[in-house]
Amino acid sequence: MRVRLSPEEPSLSRSQVVVRGLFERPVGPSRLPPDLRAEDRATQGALGRAWTAVELRGSRKEITTFHRSGPGPGRLVLIGLGAPGRYDAEVARRASAEVVRALAGRGARSVTFALESFLRADAVDEVAAVRAVVDGAGLGSYQFARFKTKAPDAPIEEAVVAVPRPSRAVRAAFREEADLVDVVRWTRDIANLPACDATPARLAREAQALGRSHRLRVRVFDERALARMGCGGILAVGGGSTHPPRMITLEYPGRGRSPPTIAVVGKGITFDSGGISIKPAASMSHMKFDKSGAVAVLGILRAARVLNVRPRVIGVMGCAENLPSGSAYRPGDVVRTYSGRTIEVLNTDAEGRVVLSDALAYAAKNYRPDALIDLATLTGAQSVALGDTIAGMVSTDDALAARLADASARSGEAIWRMPLTDYHRELVRAADFGDVRNSIEIPLAGMLTAAAFLETFTLERPWAHLDIAGVAYTTLSTRKYQPAYLNAGAVGFGVRLLARLLADWDVGAGR
Ligand code: BES
Ligand code: MN
Ligand code: ZN
Repeated sequence: MRVRLSPEEPSLSRSQVVVRGLFERPVGPSRLPPDLRAEDRATQGALGRAWTAVELRGSRKEITTFHRSGPGPGRLVLIGLGAPGRYDAEVARRASAEVVRALAGRGARSVTFALESFLRADAVDEVAAVRAVVDGAGLGSYQFARFKTKAPDAPIEEAVVAVPRPSRAVRAAFREEADLVDVVRWTRDIANLPACDATPARLAREAQALGRSHRLRVRVFDERALARMGCGGILAVGGGSTHPPRMITLEYPGRGRSPPTIAVVGKGITFDSGGISIKPAASMSHMKFDKSGAVAVLGILRAARVLNVRPRVIGVMGCAENLPSGSAYRPGDVVRTYSGRTIEVLNTDAEGRVVLSDALAYAAKNYRPDALIDLATLTGAQSVALGDTIAGMVSTDDALAARLADASARSGEAIWRMPLTDYHRELVRAADFGDVRNSIEIPLAGMLTAAAFLETFTLERPWAHLDIAGVAYTTLSTRKYQPAYLNAGAVGFGVRLLARLLADWDVGAGR
């Protein structure tokens, strides 16, 4: 899908479809809003008649199509935006995604969004609306169809955002968001790969290819290098698979003199069977998405280069496949990690934190970052607590947490801060034979005890943890309730969020 910003008059566009947002109308009879009168004429009165008949209400997800005659697009699509008082950029993002999805396979290749119909004073200005529509169109039209031998409904090929006199700020926001959407689509393509293709070595090759195309310094640590370095955590988790583990680092140098250093660390379990503490069969296929944090790191590094952000950005991906076998790690094993601290393994299914123990400590020790941020599909408890649209954040640094909250509000990728207390730390440290244990063996505050475990390996750097277990992918059973821009498997969660954080680093939090 291509996106284009155009000063054209939407009703004269060369696209096949012109799209307008429609706010919910008051109950009872009313006159057609003045800004739709021209479209009423173009539809030879059909729009006005539908209005009078209350066929159009403007409620969310309501899509109504009219045929136009004369110059301009042959079709007019009105997409409901709901009550004006409840309108925000997220509504616009979802609405534009609904439209491109509804149009797939319906004989249209190009659509023009009339941006003025998506604005609302005090809630959504031109910059926010442009970003939302680009997100909705670009992400909503995404499909992972690589393995479908029969092509699915053809997606829209071109989305035009029509803005009469785009300001510099609008043009810059458009360019940036269009670039970001490309990066997210690319990220989804990798995160959606099945575990038979996306082995740790394959992720390493993707990183190297990215390094070549986007001038990033990439290093790959194979199992021999990991053994030399003392990365016992990654090696233990990867020990059960014939596809050996890898740790991958990527460096974007940043701009100017002495930029701040931000490290992003991702959990890259290419498949999580649970290992010897094996998972039940139901939904185990979802565990190919257990690499989503590490793949988001690839996307974030790509975004850092494409957006030319000022901070220096370090990516660290901890990649391993968690399988049961004669060489797998077991409950009761004690492993020595890169930091020197030991982990008592009580449950081989709590493997993400074991891999991250090495990756976090490596990033903290070798780069001494000003901010250390990890992304991990870490706990089922995260989705129990916050569901499939809001990621959990745990942070030891209020300023960093505030920056992330700000980036969340601006990007639309929702996060909610969760607490971390000495009680949770104690639970994790109460190990018989190691410094920490990887499971507390009772179903209690699973997201928080996992975070307390990770904190041990952050070596006191300013740190934030994002548990993305519930938000990293959609499944057939939940997809119909979720926003339309999250449509097929991997979401790419965290790329737009962290890209915003990096791009806004100098602006700071709390504007
Ligand atoms: N990858 C899973 C977490 C997960 C669950 C992600 C569901 C996405 C959807 C993680 O490795 C795991 O198995 N966590 C365990 C930890 C427990 C054994 C302490 C969990 O959450 O049950
Ligand atoms: Mn697991
Ligand atoms: Zn896992």
